[in-house]
Amino acid sequence: MLEPQVHRLIQLTDCHIGESREHRLAGVCTYDTFRQVLADVAALSEGPEILMITGDIAALGKRKAYGLFAEQIRFVDIPYAWLPGNHDDFEVMQKSVTSAPYWSLLEFGDWRVISLNTAVNGQVGGTLSTGELEFLANTLRNESAHPVVIFMHHPPMPVGCDWLDQQRISNASELEKIIASATNVKGIFCGHVHQETETDWAGSRVFTSPSTCFQFTANSPGFAMSDDCPGYRWINLHPDGHLETGVHHLDIADHVVDHKTQKY
Ligand SMILES: [Fe+2]
Repeated sequence: MLEPQVHRLIQLTDCHIGESREHRLAGVCTYDTFRQVLADVAALSEGPEILMITGDIAALGKRKAYGLFAEQIRFVDIPYAWLPGNHDDFEVMQKSVTSAPYWSLLEFGDWRVISLNTAVNGQVGGTLSTGELEFLANTLRNESAHPVVIFMHHPPMPVGCDWLDQQRISNASELEKIIASATNVKGIFCGHVHQETETDWAGSRVFTSPSTCFQFTANSPGFAMSDDCPGYRWINLHPDGHLETGVHHLDIADHVVDHKTQKY
């Protein structure tokens, strides 16, 4: 059992749900793997207080895909928060995912949880707008007495895959200055790269996480899919301001990715 004052979050990311329940991407039925991941999370004995869903919920940003996402997440009785990725359409999401609005700041006991939008319409890579950077700087200043974790879709630093590293946040140096000048950022959690990494960056730690559908091969210079199963990240926020985190991959015997896939 978790101590009562520990706040457990689960990060789900890169669901890539299509416009039908049968939609397959790289040979994987993304609606079905999302369903299996949710079922795994719902069965945890130490259930989370919230699911943080860090973008690329939809494969193509279509309303129907967000309807299928909402239909599935309704079955688990856990609050959730979401932010957009490059495959999403933020405006369509705001109109379609009506069971949870977009939250940029949440509170769990002493902890503060910030969401940032790194997605830019029509662009694969991430960029933080002036508004987002100002919001972050102001919030870190206002909440300087509290430990903070940040969630966003694109990572700010390389993960070791050349093709994905070109898509990292284009103005990450501006973000780096803000994070480095704060003393209370305990962790930054990203999606987009469909793999687990941990990097010391700007005086904090950046974690990337496995997708709820298919994974990319670590340390690959070009596009390459891995056979690793769908997964998610758990995060325990402790009252003394330290956090623990790890990832869990499901064990799905018939998880088969199409290695001929060239893009997604
Ligand atoms: Fe992405």
